[in-house]
Amino acid sequence: MKNYKIAVVPGDGIGHEIVPAGLKVVEAVASNHNFKIDTEFYPWGAGYYKRHGEFMPEDGLATLQKFDAIYFGAVGLPEVDDTLPAKLYTFKVRKSFEQYVNYRPVRLLPGIESPLRYKQREDIDFVVIRENNEGEFVQNGEIVNPDTPEGYATDTSLFTRKGIENVANYAFQLAQKRRKKLTNVTKSNTLINSLLYWDTVIAEVAQNYSDVTYNKMYVDNAAASFVLKPETFDVILTTNMIGDILSDLGGAIMGSLGFGPSGNINPEKIYPSMFEPIHGSAPDIAGQNIANPIGAIWSAALMLEHLGEKDAAADIISGIEETTRKQTLTVDVGGKASTSDIADSIVDHLSTKVS
Ligand code: NAI
Ligand code: MG
Repeated sequence: MKNYKIAVVPGDGIGHEIVPAGLKVVEAVASNHNFKIDTEFYPWGAGYYKRHGEFMPEDGLATLQKFDAIYFGAVGLPEVDDTLPAKLYTFKVRKSFEQYVNYRPVRLLPGIESPLRYKQREDIDFVVIRENNEGEFVQNGEIVNPDTPEGYATDTSLFTRKGIENVANYAFQLAQKRRKKLTNVTKSNTLINSLLYWDTVIAEVAQNYSDVTYNKMYVDNAAASFVLKPETFDVILTTNMIGDILSDLGGAIMGSLGFGPSGNINPEKIYPSMFEPIHGSAPDIAGQNIANPIGAIWSAALMLEHLGEKDAAADIISGIEETTRKQTLTVDVGGKASTSDIADSIVDHLSTKVS
């Protein structure tokens, strides 16, 4: 029997509610599909920082590296400096483990009415591929003489040929498996060095994928198009910051940020990949068992797919769809179900699949 070693990092806030919901579903699907999940919990994040002065121990990355995958909630607490969570946990893991692809599907689930009132399920089905290791988020800058009239601050973006080629190849290959359309979302008319180079390298890569229709769109237009004509997108390839922002908009058109899943992927599988919902730790609703766990549960499905358990992943997705179709919904989308009710509903659906 296959046995996968999963490092579990619930993080902070609703991480402690949505991650157990996801694991419950994974345990159920594993027994149906004849594999085992060995989980090890790590209590890292902003809460850990309050006690230990760091988001994870010094050997944290070495610890994580031994696992097949990392299942993550979110990090950040209102009372902890909010420049720290990304720097000391999320970006650190993504960068160190060369998870240069951030895979974020946007798909309207059955039974959910999108806030885009004219749009149906067939109109909202695309994937945002966000470059995940460099770009605007390299945190390469400084604040100089802040309290003087000459004060200034910088954050210098960094785009490398290798970084752009890597994520572009992944995105074009994904497009080949989907509807064969790739949109590069850029802003090279104003970021005339970094994003002009980004566009140039992507256009070169595009030459190798003549079966994929390639186009380029500026991010301001793309934001409007998410709302007005989401059906025009298949695979979106974009930068770290633009992808961060657009994928929250993607969550919104799905009806809630709580629906959005993601995978931080090291395609070469040299390092473990990390799977997490797109949202944060939502301290405003934490501790009430009301958070929508579907983004986290869907992220667990992406994790199983990455590990090669495609049928198990598909079963989770159909459990999610069955649950939203029958209107078992959390409060963020107008329902009354709790976080754990959603997990139970999906587990029930899985048990009906066992003969
Ligand atoms: P957030 O995504 O945590 O919350 C934004 C809004 O969406 C809130 O009103 C929240 O209640 C709601 N929401 C989020 N997830 C939900 C869910 N599953 N079900 C129902 N409603 C949900 O973003 P915010 O408020 O900007 O950040 C809160 C903290 O999370 C901050 O400390 C931030 O740094 C951190 N954060 C961490 C991330 C990560 O660990 N990858 C990503 C984004 C933010
Ligand atoms: Mg974000």
